[in-house]
Order: sequence, then structure tokens, then C-alpha cells
Amino acid sequence: MNIFYLLFITVLVKYSVGKISGGPRGRFDNKNQRKPNNHYVSAHHAHFSYHPPSVINYMCRHCSHFVTYPVFHGLPPTYVYKYRESGGRFGDLLAGLALYNLGRASAEHWQYTHYYPVRSDEKCSMQVIDRKHFEETKLPCFVMSSFVARSPESFFPDSNALDITSPQIDIKPYLQHNGSSLKITREQECVLWHNTTLNKERNIIPCALLKEYSETMKPSGIPVYVWLPSTLALVTTIYVFCYCLCKRKIRKEQDPVNTGTIIGYCSTQY
Ligand SMILES: *[C@@H]1O[C@H](CO)[C@@H](O)[C@H](O)[C@H]1NC(C)=O
Ligand SMILES: *[C@@H]1O[C@H](CO)[C@@H](O)[C@H](O)[C@H]1NC(C)=O
Repeated sequence: MNIFYLLFITVLVKYSVGKISGGPRGRFDNKNQRKPNNHYVSAHHAHFSYHPPSVINYMCRHCSHFVTYPVFHGLPPTYVYKYRESGGRFGDLLAGLALYNLGRASAEHWQYTHYYPVRSDEKCSMQVIDRKHFEETKLPCFVMSSFVARSPESFFPDSNALDITSPQIDIKPYLQHNGSSLKITREQECVLWHNTTLNKERNIIPCALLKEYSETMKPSGIPVYVWLPSTLALVTTIYVFCYCLCKRKIRKEQDPVNTGTIIGYCSTQY
């Protein structure tokens, strides 16, 4: 009897784990099928969920006090998940940057700042620098939109401006699969570049701060619809097991002659 219960639980757990690792499919699938380009990630690793704290407090390396940073409250757009799930070398930093940028934009004049007027001559990149190390990755400029200096006119309604919260935005996470993801340390500085033909802008952020942002997107735990039935099944099993043991003991004491009867689901063969 108990073996069947254990089997049942095992099957249940196997089935649910299968479901979890499948994740919310279909978000990126169509694109993958049309473009068999290995820069695109599939949704098979899509198992992160966003848990924003009210603010992020961070103390930089040479600072003496914590500074409060704004956090985006809402459902993050698909590209943030895509960076975080990419497992690419810069995935965590770019997911962190995207969330920091959304937080900054929502903290000031949200009705304008979440629209970004994309320019054809702009190029953006992020450099990761410490004393021994230098690496650079390109990124779409809208991911760092709140760091780009804007003229007052650019806040007028513009039908070509990009809504940085749009779920339709697709990005290439620039996967560099040489088997190593970047280790983020407190010594590193992340330098954001916004280069146009006439102008170059630079912003410096501690990479560890971006990591804090990225970590507000956590691997999803086992959901309630999985653990509740499993726990109930386990409790029932233990209950039935103990019940049978008790029954046996009591009957043994009371009526040792009458063996071999079946009472309920406890068979007594001794
Ligand atoms: C922007 O300019 C800086 C400084 O010249 C350079 O290091 C960086 O690679 C440039 N980024 C892009 C995307 O062109
Ligand atoms: C992977 O590439 C980065 C630069 O893109 C390099 O610093 C790192 O050492 C490489 N790792 C391996 C294992 O080749």
C-alpha cells in the first residue's frame, strides 16, 4: 500500500518538475523558429520571477553611507527576462542594467521617460573594467535610455519613440558561449557609452549594483499547485502507515488468536 503511495508521489513530483523546467513557453518560440540564429535564446529556461523590493540600498566601494536607488514596480518587459535567462557572459549585468534603467525612468516623469527616441546614428556599449581586466559588450541604447542626455524637445510626444516597457521588444542577448559567465566583483566598474557621430557620453556605475538589480529577478520556486498536493499525499501516507501500525498493535494485544483478517486497508498477515 505504502509503495503505491510513494510511487504516486514520485510520479506526481516528476510530472510537476517537468512542468516547471518547461517554463512559460511560447514567449520567444515563434521568433526562434523563423530565425535559426544561435544568438536567440529559447524559452526553455524561462523560470525566473520578479520580486522587486521597495527600493535598493547600496553602498559603493569608496562611500561611507548607503544610497537609495529606485526600483521598477510592474511586470518587467520580456527583454529583461531574456537577458537574465540567457546565461550569456553579460546576461546578469544587462538584466540588472535594464531593471535599473526602468527604475530610474519610473522615478522621474514616467509619462515621458519610458518613451525613448531611437536615433539611427547612435551606438551603445558597456565596458566592464577593473585593474586586471577589460571587456566590452554592445547593447541596444534603449536599455540605458535614462542615462542618455535628452533635450527638452525630445520629451514632446513622438510617434516613433520606443516604449521601453513594451513586451514586443526583441533583443539579442549577445551570447558568448565559451563556457564562462562573467564573475561580478565589487572592484569592477561598468562604463556605459552612448556614442553618436558628434558626441560621446560616458556613465560609470558599480557593476555590483547592477548585480543587485539583477538578483531581484529570482529563480521561481516550486509553485503551490505542486507542493500542496505532494504534501497532502505525504501526510496521508504517514497517517495511513501509523494507523495500520496502531491497529496491528491493538489487535495483537486484544485478540491474538484471530489473525489473517482484513480490516479497512490494513491486511494482517503474521
Ligand atoms: C564608444 O566610444 C568609446 C570611446 O571611444 C569606445 O571605447 C567604445 O567602444 C564606443 N562604443 C561603441 C558601441 O561604439
Ligand atoms: C571567455 O571569453 C572571455 C572574453 O570574451 C575571456 O576573458 C575568458 O577568459 C574566456 N574563457 C574561456 C574559458 O575561454
